[in-house]
Amino acid sequence: VPSASKVVWEKFTPQKRFDRQMYHYGNFSQNFLWGVSSSAYQIEGAWRQGGKGLSIWDKFTHTPGNILQHDTGDIACNSYNKMEDDIAALKKVKVSHYRFSVSWPRILPDGTTKYINQAGINYYKKLLDSLIAANIQPQVTLYHWDLPQALQDVGGWENETIIERFRDYADILFENLGPKVQLWITFNEPFIIAILGHVQGTHAPGILLSMHDRPDTLPYIVSHNIIKAHAEAWHVYNDKYRASQNGMVSITVNADWAEPRNPYKQEDYDAARSVFYLGWYAHPIFNGDYSPLMKRSVLEQSLAGGLTKSRLPEFTPEEIKRINGTYDYFGLNHYCTKSWTNSCYRGVVLLRDRTWLESGSHWLTMTPFGLRRLLKFIKHEFGNPPIIITENGVSENGPVDLNDVHRKYFYEKYINQVLKAYLLDDVNVIGYTAWSLLDNLEWAVGYTERFGLFYINRSDPDLPRTPKASVSFYSSIISCNGFPD
Ligand code: NOJ
Repeated sequence: VPSASKVVWEKFTPQKRFDRQMYHYGNFSQNFLWGVSSSAYQIEGAWRQGGKGLSIWDKFTHTPGNILQHDTGDIACNSYNKMEDDIAALKKVKVSHYRFSVSWPRILPDGTTKYINQAGINYYKKLLDSLIAANIQPQVTLYHWDLPQALQDVGGWENETIIERFRDYADILFENLGPKVQLWITFNEPFIIAILGHVQGTHAPGILLSMHDRPDTLPYIVSHNIIKAHAEAWHVYNDKYRASQNGMVSITVNADWAEPRNPYKQEDYDAARSVFYLGWYAHPIFNGDYSPLMKRSVLEQSLAGGLTKSRLPEFTPEEIKRINGTYDYFGLNHYCTKSWTNSCYRGVVLLRDRTWLESGSHWLTMTPFGLRRLLKFIKHEFGNPPIIITENGVSENGPVDLNDVHRKYFYEKYINQVLKAYLLDDVNVIGYTAWSLLDNLEWAVGYTERFGLFYINRSDPDLPRTPKASVSFYSSIISCNGFPD
């Protein structure tokens, strides 16, 4: 889904002199945020404890065939019952911030305010208090994919009444937890919700569109409702809580960097630009409305598919105004770069660059250079907002090796690119968050792909958190606020 506008891609790709310099010496700003990240369904477990309702991920993982090895999040890392262990792990990394998400059905078991589960609120209050006592600031995600099943039963993100449900849920969190929280994220990775959940069916709620429907209107409707729900939550905060709580609220979007295979070929630039989906969500929120490029290409696809009008819903002028500017920073999840070409026989094609190092996940190559380009792109395209990298990390699968050389390599190279963007390109990046604190449930591939700084031996019922070598490596970068001289 193309959605980048205005920018001439070439501006971001030429290699500058600095790119050839291996390390950049220097530091991040004094109050740079250093964090690690997690999400409720991937770590909490306790799926039927403490009054929690069912989520779409409970149902999805319990449906045979959806998850590798039949893994579920029933127990996960048991973080619901092992709060002290997680705090101890966080202290070891010496982070200033911890990003976690709230499970919506733990607060509102059927998704609505008909019944508020006080035990759920208490759990998150206790977590916040323990973090603050450990001098770690929270960054709280409202929605990291675990929708109450009861809301899915009435249409989920396709039904626009969900906008109101989400606003009410956000209101409850701001009221109850807000005095202890300065950083909020409304949605994590709406693109993944729309495409993996509502086109490919590999994520909950598992809607698989047939080849004939593809690309159908569904992902566009789902995304449209998510964007509006985000804006409503931001306005609730702005109108009711900002004056007393003074925090920052935003959305986290994900993007791979799209690199043209042949930098001297215009078709390859166009191919890369045509698959770059960051602006689908960011453009309405940061610039106002879907971008002209997004509108044009969805219209073209729709007409080519035999429709008479575009699959992309339209915002009314009032909606455009209400959504535009509903951010206090830019939340970015980034993992890797993909290489694109345009062949006259097959159209836009993704290529595998064999020189790029691989990881434990088939989609994740170690391509640090793309992060700097992406940061520069965001600076130019979205009005130089403060940027927090809310996720960045790498996986392994197969045998356990606590000396995770590849992860140390990954963090060193990627953080170095962030530092270059900050010092040399004047990108206003204010924080970096590693994914993830613990080895956890990696969605459809279960526990087979491990992103954690801490290893969890799943055959030990205590699920002990064992640091990998990257823990001390990352914590030394944090202590130096950059790289040691
Ligand atoms: C992004 C998602 O937000 C997170 O839940 C997931 O585990 C990581 N990427 C790694 O795939």
